[in-house]
Amino acid sequence: MGKLEVINHPLIQHKLSILRRTDTSTKAFRELVDEIAMLMGYEVLRDLPLEDVEIETPITKTVQKQLAGKKLAIVPILRAGIGMVDGLLSLVPAAKVGHIGMYRDEETLQPVEYLVKLPEDIDQRQIFVVDPMLATGGSAILAVDSLKKRGASNIKFVCLVSAPEGVKALQEAHPDVEIFTAALDERLNEHGYIVPGLGDAGDRLFGTK
Ligand code: PRP
Ligand code: URA
Repeated sequence: MGKLEVINHPLIQHKLSILRRTDTSTKAFRELVDEIAMLMGYEVLRDLPLEDVEIETPITKTVQKQLAGKKLAIVPILRAGIGMVDGLLSLVPAAKVGHIGMYRDEETLQPVEYLVKLPEDIDQRQIFVVDPMLATGGSAILAVDSLKKRGASNIKFVCLVSAPEGVKALQEAHPDVEIFTAALDERLNEHGYIVPGLGDAGDRLFGTK
């Protein structure tokens, strides 16, 4: 079974409560998604490898640590995943960004892939797939399928709000993919929306409804 980590730092819980509110504006929604992604990054990037580096302080020469320069890729699932990219990039500015375009068919709830644009060496990168919502899990599973088909093997999934149904489905389909979420909500409703959730993340982020 894939590992699940709920990152529930008080700052994240506070910001997430504002994000969920119906009366939160598009501008505030966008800023909050960005801030929460950055705060989650602190935990999500905890395993980044370090290497020794010799430096000189004003006092002496010393061997200290620096990031080993491992190749990273952030892969947002369009559209809503875009909102989480800058927050993570502010921590690892050298990461490359790939895009996977996907929408959920509103009748069947099945994801439909419409774009895949990835760094050429995606098979050699540590990948962070980002999407605010993990609902049925269909979009996340198809995105990871798509990455694995292109040789990727080192993949983590980062979301803000998840449903138990989606977590279970992703864990069963891809047990090697660690899942990070800021909240594990109660359930899905009959339309495949997360309860209590925050509504349609793409529409709220871009103000399209
Ligand atoms: C939302 C969300 C996820 C997906 C989650 O995207 O951003 O990608 O639904 O649902 P699932 O786990 O049941 O697949 P949506 O399809 O609304 O597309 P959008 O981001 O373009 O609005
Ligand atoms: N996609 C969303 O944007 N919100 C949900 O609650 C479920 C899927």
